[in-house]
Amino acid sequence: EKGGYEHFMLKEIFEQPKSIHDTMRGRILVDEGIIKMAGIWDHLERFKNAHKITIIACGTSWHAGLIGEYLIEEFARIPVEVEYASEFRYRNPIISDKDVVIAISQSGETADTMAALKLAKEKGAFIYGICNVVDSSIARITDAGSYTHAGPEIGVASTKAFTAQLTILSLIAIKLGHHNGNLSKQDFMKLITELDNIPNKVEEVLASTHDYVKEISKQYADATNFLYLGRGYNYPAALEGALKLKEISYIHAEGYPAAEMKHGPIALIDENMPIVIIAPKKGHYDKIVSNVQEIKARKGKVIAVVTRGDEQVASMADHVIEIPDSEECFSPILASVPLQLLAYYIAVLRGANVDQPRNLAKSVTVE
Ligand code: F6R
Repeated sequence: EKGGYEHFMLKEIFEQPKSIHDTMRGRILVDEGIIKMAGIWDHLERFKNAHKITIIACGTSWHAGLIGEYLIEEFARIPVEVEYASEFRYRNPIISDKDVVIAISQSGETADTMAALKLAKEKGAFIYGICNVVDSSIARITDAGSYTHAGPEIGVASTKAFTAQLTILSLIAIKLGHHNGNLSKQDFMKLITELDNIPNKVEEVLASTHDYVKEISKQYADATNFLYLGRGYNYPAALEGALKLKEISYIHAEGYPAAEMKHGPIALIDENMPIVIIAPKKGHYDKIVSNVQEIKARKGKVIAVVTRGDEQVASMADHVIEIPDSEECFSPILASVPLQLLAYYIAVLRGANVDQPRNLAKSVTVE
């Protein structure tokens, strides 16, 4: 059932071209120039008139939510807040019938997310679900939603569900931006054409980075700490990279927005500190270049995820992992793949139980 792979996690990492494709299938119609999502279309006015959208989730799904915030604010220009379900539910949140709440959950059974939704529902909010497990508890209490079609995720560490969540959030943001007039037809077409091609690029990333990431993981299997840095869309990707490493390898890892480094974490940097830096040639690339200079001046070890052909960051980094060029908003999907592989191979070298890490459960049905 592992399809020849040693672990479900590796199988699921390699399934991503298909799981992303399955999540988009029937939804992106490039030739017709439309995104078909009944859940959004049927409730378009609720979304358009929303005072704000609050995204509620836990763990990896919360990281997807953070990227969702960037996507929806950029393309649809609707204010978005992202909340840990456990915090939201206990702090008397300001939510009314003018609000839209989006819940993200792979399992659809997470207790805190479920309780937060019940609370939002009581306050009259419109509840939209992004779940992977069909007919799960969360899927059933939502007013509308879109399933991710990642297929069953067995490995406790979420991989293909995460990239499927990013796919759905991209579709929602682009669709809303299209309907509320923030995206020109031309930009809309450019984005859906590019998103439609992301499964091919993920395939390319798997083929071109797998052996190299496996090889360099040997140098880091004994590390005791890791930092993950990224800016903009890739800041949440850094958080997710760090979470993957800590949950399966038990190495302490932290993710930060790259610019926050100088507000504290820089004190940790010495020749024993590996730093994964996500630096596609987009957005604030020049700022990332100076972050890398600061790290190298302190002899930190830099593992850089860069756009193919990059020279500036690549010339300073100890290890260079190339991903294909893409729209910045989709780069977290591409950058996450080698980071999943890095966490996986480091964990395997440490003899950890990759598919069932200690103390963790696939669905967290108690708070
Ligand atoms: C991380 C992981 C957890 C889950 C979290 C939420 O790899 O698996 O952090 O993401 O427990 O679970 P769902 O998405 O099922 O609500």
